[in-house]
Amino acid sequence: MASSKSQGAYGFDPSGLERAAKAAKELDSSPNSKNAFELSLKQEEVKKTEMEARIKELDIQRVAIDHQERRKTLEKEVEMSKQKSLFDDKLAKERYQQQLEDHARMQEMNRRRDEESIAKQEQMRRQTLEYEHQLRVEADKKRILSREQAKIERLRSTKDLRYEEIKLKEDERRRTLKEVWTTNMEVVGTGLKGYLGNFSNLASLAGGLTLAFFGFQFAKAAGRLSTSIIEARLGKPSLVRETSRKTSVTELLKSPFVKIYEQTLVKGRFMPTTTTQREKDILEGIFINPDLEVNLKTLAHSIVNRKKHYAPFRNLLLYGPPGTGKTMFAKSLAKHSGMDFAILTGGDIGPLGKDGVTELHRLFDWASTSKKGVLLFMDEADAFLRKRTTEKISEDMRNSLNALLYRTGSASYNFMLVLASNTPDQLDRAIHDRVDEIVKFDRPEEKQRLQMLYHYLLQYCSPSSSIRKKLINVIRDPRTLVFKRTEIGMKGVDDEFIEKIAKRIDGFSGREIYKLVIAWHDAAFNKQNAILTPELMEAVLENHIDQHKQREEWNKTIIT
Ligand SMILES: Nc1ncnc2c1ncn2[C@@H]1O[C@H](COP(=O)(O)OP(=O)(O)OP(=O)(O)O)[C@@H](O)[C@H]1O
Ligand SMILES: [Mg+2]
Repeated sequence: MASSKSQGAYGFDPSGLERAAKAAKELDSSPNSKNAFELSLKQEEVKKTEMEARIKELDIQRVAIDHQERRKTLEKEVEMSKQKSLFDDKLAKERYQQQLEDHARMQEMNRRRDEESIAKQEQMRRQTLEYEHQLRVEADKKRILSREQAKIERLRSTKDLRYEEIKLKEDERRRTLKEVWTTNMEVVGTGLKGYLGNFSNLASLAGGLTLAFFGFQFAKAAGRLSTSIIEARLGKPSLVRETSRKTSVTELLKSPFVKIYEQTLVKGRFMPTTTTQREKDILEGIFINPDLEVNLKTLAHSIVNRKKHYAPFRNLLLYGPPGTGKTMFAKSLAKHSGMDFAILTGGDIGPLGKDGVTELHRLFDWASTSKKGVLLFMDEADAFLRKRTTEKISEDMRNSLNALLYRTGSASYNFMLVLASNTPDQLDRAIHDRVDEIVKFDRPEEKQRLQMLYHYLLQYCSPSSSIRKKLINVIRDPRTLVFKRTEIGMKGVDDEFIEKIAKRIDGFSGREIYKLVIAWHDAAFNKQNAILTPELMEAVLENHIDQHKQREEWNKTIIT
């Protein structure tokens, strides 16, 4: 009770200690206590040894773990260093690649810069050349313009009709020829009478003259043969339709006679040799508006005199409505420029297919060997040189066009390209770029229409008045000596009537006027007396005006 009281007062029970002390006393007084103590000591020692063994074991485990940890760390380090070296390697490679690319880029930049500077230099050189040429052309133009203006003024003050000129010239020529002929006949006749009285004299004279003539011609032909034999080796390219260049031995042998026939009898004189004469003749028989005439004369002048200027050839583009004289001018320019000329047609290239490229190269190779230079005239150029991008042109055509562009990329001293087209806007851009001079041909104005009417009427609808014209007819058609030739005559057709017609055919092209005159000729020919009267002309004209209107209508519908 007391203990429970004291526990209740302090919260601690001292009876436990008392019991322990009592138990210890009892144990101390027990005989086994010593043994028990020793036993417990031994137990303690065993426990201690176990504990030490355990500690050692733990130590070993710790060492093993440490070792494992270190190995893992080492492996990780190896792995990391491997990764690092791979990464470094990759970086080095990328850096090297980058350096290579930088180097290549640098080289490309340098190359481009070099090219640009060369192109700039080339452009400057061309500009200088062109500028010099322009200056010369301007000077020539001014000179020709003032000369032409003076001429036009002079013509205006008198009666400005080519017809009058031609008629006067023809009369003059006939009179002179007649006089010369009569005088010669009188002088020579008396001398010859005695000599030719004897037949053997006559025969030997004829033989001698023939031999001299042939001897002269063969000497000329032989000379030409030797210089042209090398050219003949090359052969005429199949694309060339017509050329002045002799390429076969037969042609070379034939040429002196053909030339004599063409130049002496057909043209009535030898080919002009002076440049001014050549320039004048270029527009002979071509009637064009005054502005264009001055333009063309300037152009012809610069081409004919090119050698004096040491200038490269310039490429031309002639464009305008059909039948306005483009082909006529180009042919005449070619013939009078002192160069060889070759005429080809754009439409001939398409059907060649794959062979187009080879044939074009042959053509340019052939042109490049000409000493005089070749004027390559491509008629109907739009049939071949159409845009590569927008048009659906075949692969072969595109290749042919590329071949042509390649061969005409730089200014040439061997050939000039003259293109004629009705639709120049259809041509490839690169072709536009290669053209140095663009010339527009328009339909004839009233004055030119009048000149054409007179020109073609004189040619087709009036009887041959001059001896030369008669001779030409005989040479062209020797049968006329035996079977009489029907010549058309005109009755009641005066200047006033023709002037009225010239007004009415406004809008006609040169070709339409030419066809009109041919139609008059045919209409008269079908009459028994072969006479062309104003009534007959009127009837044919009405018909042709209707046809012209119809053509215009069709053209309108094609455009819209
Ligand atoms: N200005 C002209 N002066 C004299 N005749 C001309 C003229 N223009 C055309 N002609 C006559 O018309 C014909 C055809 O002319 P040309 O072949 O030169 O025309 P083009 O302009 O080339 O036509 P296309 O564009 O159809 O090829 C000539 O042979 C000629 O008789
Ligand atoms: Mg033509």
